[in-house]
Amino acid sequence: MASSPPSVEFNARVTSMQPSATLAMKSRATEMQRQGHPVVTLSAGEPDFDTPAPIAEAGMEAIRSGFTHYTENTGTLELREAICDKFERDNGLSYTPDQIVCSNGAKQSLALAIHALCDAGDEVLIPAPYWVSYPEMARFAGAEPVVAPTGVEEQYRLTPEALDDALTDDTRAFILCTPSNPTGAMYSPEELEALAAVLRDYEDVFVISDEIYEHVRFDAEHRAFASIPGMKERTVTINGFSKAYAMTGWRLGYLAAPAPVADATAKIQSQFTSAPSSISQKAGVAALEMDQEPVDDMVSAFRRRRDVVVERLGAIEGVTCPTPDGAFYVYPEVSPFFGTDAPDGRTIEDSDDLCFYLLEEHHVALVPGAAFGGPNGVRLSYASSMEELTTGLDRIEEGLNALR
Ligand SMILES: Cc1ncc(COP(=O)(O)O)c(C=O)c1O
Repeated sequence: MASSPPSVEFNARVTSMQPSATLAMKSRATEMQRQGHPVVTLSAGEPDFDTPAPIAEAGMEAIRSGFTHYTENTGTLELREAICDKFERDNGLSYTPDQIVCSNGAKQSLALAIHALCDAGDEVLIPAPYWVSYPEMARFAGAEPVVAPTGVEEQYRLTPEALDDALTDDTRAFILCTPSNPTGAMYSPEELEALAAVLRDYEDVFVISDEIYEHVRFDAEHRAFASIPGMKERTVTINGFSKAYAMTGWRLGYLAAPAPVADATAKIQSQFTSAPSSISQKAGVAALEMDQEPVDDMVSAFRRRRDVVVERLGAIEGVTCPTPDGAFYVYPEVSPFFGTDAPDGRTIEDSDDLCFYLLEEHHVALVPGAAFGGPNGVRLSYASSMEELTTGLDRIEEGLNALR
């Protein structure tokens, strides 16, 4: 007997969740490419390099040797010890393996941290422009994302005064991202200390410090937020392998936290996903222990591209483009183009219109700033070959110069 399907009513938090805007733009660009349009995609969130050979070899060796079973929920002791060594070496931070939880990417680590710490009625303070998933994760935990805007004038860095203004008695977590996706901005050690000085007056606030771009930086110094005196006990550091080691597809990230917080995140992980892939974990150990020259080479390539991109964008009238210190994005301010008309008759009201115009008429894909809570800008990723970048920049220049 045929029965009718159950009604498709989803969990209310799923219904109210926004799909990832960066992925949405990517699929629109892919659709156009499939239709035969020669789209240059400057919207990617991943390095355009292969995973370095020693890492890939460690993964293959894991498979060959049968290291293909479940591991401990929080990751192998070998990997967690290697991560502790990394914290000691790179950040002067001393963690024990029970304070490390390895997951299927830093994205999952963030979701675990937010869900372990935040509850209904809590506020999660997020400086904008922000990485798209932070507010959605906060909402999914039942908490309220509170956005603290920053602008091009302060190079997209939250000032201590703005932090103080935005913190309330309900703030449970403050999410920091340095180097930043989407702006590439980095906080100097002194700026981080000034933020920490404000936080000392708010004892119940945890800091979730997303440092996944730690190694993708140019001249600026990276200071782990947890290494600032008094901050380690209230900081969950998020990091991973995707960006520095071009390992996005391996899905491996981790968090370091005070033991009770680490335990809470591990409990969630044990019921939802269990440990990340055993193969990726072996590869992760190799990444941390290998000669870091492939990382340096990749970062040098990013630096050359950044310089070209900043120079070319800065030369376009109406564009203000700060020089980012890290990651592989620039976030030019493009609001002078809002209210202009394009040759095809459309009016550009906002950054969404601008990006769709550039994609549909000039075949170059950027990500509109509204997705990042920074509506006056757009994100350009320079994780593309110099040739593609040059073509993309020619098209952006042509497209913007055609607006009246
Ligand atoms: C700021 C930031 N945090 C976290 C992630 C998640 O990285 P993954 O889950 O690939 O480790 C990304 C990836 O784009 C990111 O840009």
